[in-house]
Amino acid sequence: MSLQATPADKFSFGLWTVGWQARDAFGDATRPALDPVEAVHKLAEIGAYGITFHDDDLVPFGADAQTRDGIIGGFKKALDETGLIVPMVTTNLFTHPVFKDGGFTSNDRSVRRYAIRKVLRQMDLGAELGAKTLVLWGGREGAEYDSAKDVGAALDRYREALNLLAQYSEDKGYGLRFAIEPKPNEPRGDILLPTAGHAIAFVQELERPELFGINPETGHEQMSNLNFTQGIAQALWHKKLFHIDLNGQHGPKFDQDLVFGHGDLLNAFSLVDLLENGPDGAPAYDGPRHFDYKPSRTEDFDGVWESAKDNIRMYLLLKERAAAFRADPEVQAALAESKVAELRTPTLNPGEGYQELLNDRTAFEDYDADAVGAKGFGFVKLNQLAIDHLLRAR
Ligand code: GCO
Ligand code: MN
Ligand code: MN
Repeated sequence: MSLQATPADKFSFGLWTVGWQARDAFGDATRPALDPVEAVHKLAEIGAYGITFHDDDLVPFGADAQTRDGIIGGFKKALDETGLIVPMVTTNLFTHPVFKDGGFTSNDRSVRRYAIRKVLRQMDLGAELGAKTLVLWGGREGAEYDSAKDVGAALDRYREALNLLAQYSEDKGYGLRFAIEPKPNEPRGDILLPTAGHAIAFVQELERPELFGINPETGHEQMSNLNFTQGIAQALWHKKLFHIDLNGQHGPKFDQDLVFGHGDLLNAFSLVDLLENGPDGAPAYDGPRHFDYKPSRTEDFDGVWESAKDNIRMYLLLKERAAAFRADPEVQAALAESKVAELRTPTLNPGEGYQELLNDRTAFEDYDADAVGAKGFGFVKLNQLAIDHLLRAR
């Protein structure tokens, strides 16, 4: 099995991931700044096909036009030299003090107007570089104090902003799709649209819901103690998985942004199995496999590039393990024993309604609930087979 990534694997990284200087709430940066041009070259070397960025990751906030043009020119040249693409861009509406109460949902109207302008500018750049997706992570859209935020009004303003962005993309012919990234908290005490489910529900209220989906992140759902694989399965069911942020997290605590699979490994296995093998053996998702991790603060630049490679390695290892799991006849037998595929059979016969169901004595009057209730499903055996494959014990 090859653990060498190819562009067909669609691995991408945020510039803010490998470029993170490891400044945290308690300590200074432990690494110097990374030149975006170097990031492009290094990511291409390790087999990534794409790089993504916030406006301010590439061009420092407030840079003059000449500086901006120079940086963008150098970045484009690096993309040309390496063949790396920019599948997605996003906007920083969280670092500058002006965004301390949010961007689209700040109580201050002038901030909201400024935030929208900042995103429009990043959409222009994204479209120029060929990006297909704009991610919207509203880390500062939230509150610490219930009485300080009118949540209904905040959602109205969120909707107002997103409708405008969609209109702009359509009028300009950018053809962008928008992916909302949920997170329950951090940096705000409570963030709006905290989980995948909240975000999917919100999207239905927009003028052009078909242009909006979600960008769920492993750690963010797990911070809410939710099962990431199940959340992704539901997002796929709604056809709303527009992008994905892969990383690692150990349950409900601060956002760890560990290497993919370095948190809940079993859940990472089932996730890769879902993305690659789907419910019916075909990949369930064909978008970028985007790693949004933070190289740990303890690492130097060698550690940064080692850990970047580890994300890819983890994904490819899990993909290989999932394929072995699916190919094992004993697994197939255990799946059948557990009636996993039977759930795909509709509960009613074709054309059957409640009257036919009421007429069917085998469904109720003659049904032996005790006999059926006494029989086990064998789910634990199936899970052990998955773990055996994961541990290469089979
Ligand atoms: C986080 C988030 C962010 C977003 C990014 C995209 O760790 O809280 O993942 O990194 O993904 O800002 O806008
Ligand atoms: Mn995160
Ligand atoms: Mn993310």
